[in-house]
Amino acid sequence: MSNSRIAVFPGSFDPIHLGHVDLVERALPLFDEIVVAVLNNEHKRTIFSLEERVEMLEELFRDSARVRVASFEGLVADFARTESAFFLLRGLRNGKDFEYELPMTVMNRRLVPELETVFLPTRPELCDLSSSLIKEVLKLGGDPGEVLPEDVRSRLAAKLKEAAS
Ligand code: PNS
Repeated sequence: MSNSRIAVFPGSFDPIHLGHVDLVERALPLFDEIVVAVLNNEHKRTIFSLEERVEMLEELFRDSARVRVASFEGLVADFARTESAFFLLRGLRNGKDFEYELPMTVMNRRLVPELETVFLPTRPELCDLSSSLIKEVLKLGGDPGEVLPEDVRSRLAAKLKEAAS
């Protein structure tokens, strides 16, 4: 096992929002490196392509030397193993998240016994954020305020405009 503390932060990131960004920033003191890993799931419809999601993340974390962006398909436990990462990072917004996450955590450890999932509670002021809710509100003309990184916000606005035309 490598001595570096590498954590994989897996997700769909369609798109990344400020809740995700906050989580990475708060987790950085805990790990040597965080691999933000975008799931490539062909069966899930996403507004942004895999390439676009990776590009937005790379842009966002360009100046964070200890944050790396990657994509993966298949099992996150296998991906973590190939990255020599023995931690998964996930945020918890509420009890429902916990119910969703716990079986995955246990299963992931069944698959790779050294793999620990580290949960950070979401900041209360960001607890309502989810990529799907943000997309829905923007699509219907609402203004959720500062919930997306600037570049992501303009890219999403362009996507929604394109989809509506
Ligand atoms: O951002 P999301 O959609 O909440 O992320 C979910 C994600 C990507 C963490 C989860 O679906 C996942 O780990 N998928 C990879 C496939 C896998 O390993 N499934 C078994 C989990 S025990």
